[in-house]
Amino acid sequence: MTAFVDRYGPWAVVAGASEGIGASFSKKLGERGFNLVLVARRVGPLEELASEIGAKHQVEVRVQALDLGAPNVSSELGHATEALDVGLVIYNAAYSPIGAFIEVDVEEHIKAVNVNVLGTLRVAHYFGRRLADRGKGGIIIMSSMSSIQGTAMVANYAATKAYDTILAEGLWRELGQRGVDVLGCIAGATLTPNYEGSTDKIPSSWLARPMKPGDVAEQALHDLGQRPSGVSGGRNRFAAALLARLLPRRAAIEMVSKETEHMYR
Ligand SMILES: NC(=O)c1ccc[n+]([C@@H]2O[C@H](COP(=O)([O-])OP(=O)(O)OC[C@H]3O[C@@H](n4cnc5c(N)ncnc54)[C@H](OP(=O)(O)O)[C@@H]3O)[C@@H](O)[C@H]2O)c1
Repeated sequence: MTAFVDRYGPWAVVAGASEGIGASFSKKLGERGFNLVLVARRVGPLEELASEIGAKHQVEVRVQALDLGAPNVSSELGHATEALDVGLVIYNAAYSPIGAFIEVDVEEHIKAVNVNVLGTLRVAHYFGRRLADRGKGGIIIMSSMSSIQGTAMVANYAATKAYDTILAEGLWRELGQRGVDVLGCIAGATLTPNYEGSTDKIPSSWLARPMKPGDVAEQALHDLGQRPSGVSGGRNRFAAALLARLLPRRAAIEMVSKETEHMYR
């Protein structure tokens, strides 16, 4: 625990912090003694979480209301954190419009690119420089099992998540040489408000059974510094090996798409 705070503390920024996996990251970092900057669009849930963590663990918790898909994200985060010794940054927020690609309004797809691609790029670039100059720290970028192959009903979201995984892996190499650990966290279905609001169906395959957000966050914190990217949970790791290494590409796309069509059509 002390080694983790020495390596990645004393301040962490969680981008997309107020609920789901982001809230779990925030609570787990508070528990480890990190001071936190919690970022999301809605101030109410952020402030509630900030007081809960601050009271429980006697750490300093600040909140920053910000749309991570906006072009001014680096300057806003820079302004909010310039006086803080930030050692760990987690880019967790994403937008996932669900439906057949051509049925979803193109503006919704662009919003997903803004949050999942451009937001990730801006935050990783801004803090990548800061952490590299500092000579130590960590960045976790949240990705998804849908980044492994093309996926119907979330075709654009899956493509944005492929960007997230590949960016994290390239930065693992580049920034690793400057003392900064980078991890792409490849989560499968996870019981977050976003996931639970997206469907009322239970996955047809046992391989797609959802995990708890706390378990996803805990494993990612454990994987940071160990590997370029890590799949969350044993079932998802088995599925990822099957999809990425064993099945022909066409079969992998069809297998995953059958599940998303069952869940979302
Ligand atoms: N849940 C799953 O089944 C699943 C599966 C695979 C991968 N993942 C990945 O795990 C990550 C977290 O997923 P999640 O389900 O916990 O929920 P999420 O909807 O991606 O993120 C929720 C958090 O992000 C904030 N947020 C969303 N859009 C934002 C924006 N434009 N600007 C600032 N903050 C924003 C939300 O607060 P506000 O609404 O107040 O902004 C909330 O705090 C994502 O990267 C997702 O791709 C999730």
